[in-house]
Amino acid sequence: MTSKELRQKYLEFFKSKGHAIIPSASLIPENDPTVLFTTAGMHPLVPYLMGEPHPEGKRLANVQKCIRTGDIDEVGDNRHLTFFEMLGNWSLGDYFKADAIQWSWEFLTDKKWLGINAKKLAVTVFAGDVDAPRDEESADIWKSLGVPAHKIGYLPKKNNWWGPAGQTGPCGPDTEMFYWAGAGEYPPESSNPETDEDHWLEIWNDVFMQYNKNADGTYAPLKQKNVDTGMGLERTLVALNGYGDVFQIDTFWPLVQKIEQLSGKQYKDGEGVTKSMRIVADHLRAATMIMADDRGIVPSNVDQGYVVRRLIRRAVRHARQLGLKGKFCADVAAVVAHIFCDVYPEVARNEEKIFAELAKEEEKFDATLEKGLREFHKIPSITGHDAFVLYSTYGFPLELTLELVHEKGEGIDEAVFAQDFQKHQDLSRAGATQKFSGGLADHSEEVVRQHTATHLLQQALRDVLGNHICQKGSNITKERLRFDFTHPSKVTPEELKRVEEIMNEQIRKDHPVHFEMLTVEEAKARGAIGLFEDKYSQLGNKIKVYFIGDYSKEICGGPHVEHTRQIGGITIVKEEAVSAGIRRIKAVLVDE
Ligand code: SER
Repeated sequence: MTSKELRQKYLEFFKSKGHAIIPSASLIPENDPTVLFTTAGMHPLVPYLMGEPHPEGKRLANVQKCIRTGDIDEVGDNRHLTFFEMLGNWSLGDYFKADAIQWSWEFLTDKKWLGINAKKLAVTVFAGDVDAPRDEESADIWKSLGVPAHKIGYLPKKNNWWGPAGQTGPCGPDTEMFYWAGAGEYPPESSNPETDEDHWLEIWNDVFMQYNKNADGTYAPLKQKNVDTGMGLERTLVALNGYGDVFQIDTFWPLVQKIEQLSGKQYKDGEGVTKSMRIVADHLRAATMIMADDRGIVPSNVDQGYVVRRLIRRAVRHARQLGLKGKFCADVAAVVAHIFCDVYPEVARNEEKIFAELAKEEEKFDATLEKGLREFHKIPSITGHDAFVLYSTYGFPLELTLELVHEKGEGIDEAVFAQDFQKHQDLSRAGATQKFSGGLADHSEEVVRQHTATHLLQQALRDVLGNHICQKGSNITKERLRFDFTHPSKVTPEELKRVEEIMNEQIRKDHPVHFEMLTVEEAKARGAIGLFEDKYSQLGNKIKVYFIGDYSKEICGGPHVEHTRQIGGITIVKEEAVSAGIRRIKAVLVDE
């Protein structure tokens, strides 16, 4: 089965069960400073899982682009990826365990759909703890569908609990479905993912999101009981096609072939070659998809840009190990663009920019390597600490230092490097946690007020600078709001002052704030602004538009204040460049 067929079948199945098909959200979360990337289909839906009405109703399904950088060091084995596609269906306070599980089983095993032999499947359910009971309810539903008791494993929170996506928010126990990936056609009778973890491939996860995790670590029941399911497209294709690894599916194999052609090596030329080819393919696929997003992410030293930089540089390192010389990233990215241009239109829109950025980053990395080499040769006998300084100051990879040291017949104390590295990571983590307030699950008064203020900011920018102003990103913490937008030059202090005055004037008018569910066509006809390209598209699809009196009309999930005086006052504290043609404003609320 191809990726195209699987996406189509999945959406068709859930449409037949009354689900509205929604688009993949951006890989870069809107208004959520708690995470850098969209890690699951539920992430953009957090406000709706918490009770906001969704314009498309209570049953949704989609194919979501996801990035999980937590798995970056595992990439190279047969199943881990940084970018992947997730098929998902949701109930927003509508159906619950019985329907979710029954439909998962039907889709997996019914000949009309995937037709997987039930003997090759096993499931797990939550074993229970102080926060939530053992999930016998789900186990009984599986049994009623014909799953034998010995194919049902019971696992703790570490395995069978999902969420929240950030630090706080919706989460709950889950039940997971696995495909037999061990030797022989069928698993031994006694084997299930609880007893035999390594031989089962997780393909689908039904999460019963009925709790909210609070900042203090406690769990409170949510207003509504939700279902959030996620099926890994790549892994499911592995199962359906009987492949040994995810790199053989059709959204990867052409990349491997390109890398084979460029390097003159074969994928099966030994463990080291296979691993490096997988890393090059995965990392360049992920870097391309992040840059393809209309948010304009490019390689840099911070946030998403840093991840892109790391992915590209790691891909280059492994390509060099394969003997690949010269610039090659854009050639591989062109294959990624070809694979995804029909599925995610933003890839085609941004491909020229992506190729140029990749070439620029390869050049920079080559220069870094040269400089690092010079520094390396200045040090007579390298210690673990020196290796760390080469890494942290010059970006010189540890693997390279090790290689060079070994060539000289010496060694270094890797434990010292690891210690320094750990300290460095703890520091960056501490930096990151400072940002960890706010988020899509944060409906605190401070965050909601700033959210409405962001809408005023966008409209005021358009009033002062012109209608070319388009949102490129928005990020709100309890302390400040940050808004990225298109504009070719620096915004002058006079212009900023005017923007600030307009916002405060509008706040003082105490406009009422309300939303309406409109079709894209209606929203456009009424002059709404916002990220249309994310929100769709299919004729008749509904979107939610927030109105601030007659001053601002913008597509948004909410929530917002009820009237603008609740915002207080607003002050712009900074204006700066993010990248070519994209500016950033930071603003804080002040009490009036
Ligand atoms: N959020 C769950 C997961 O990522 C189900 O989609 O596994």
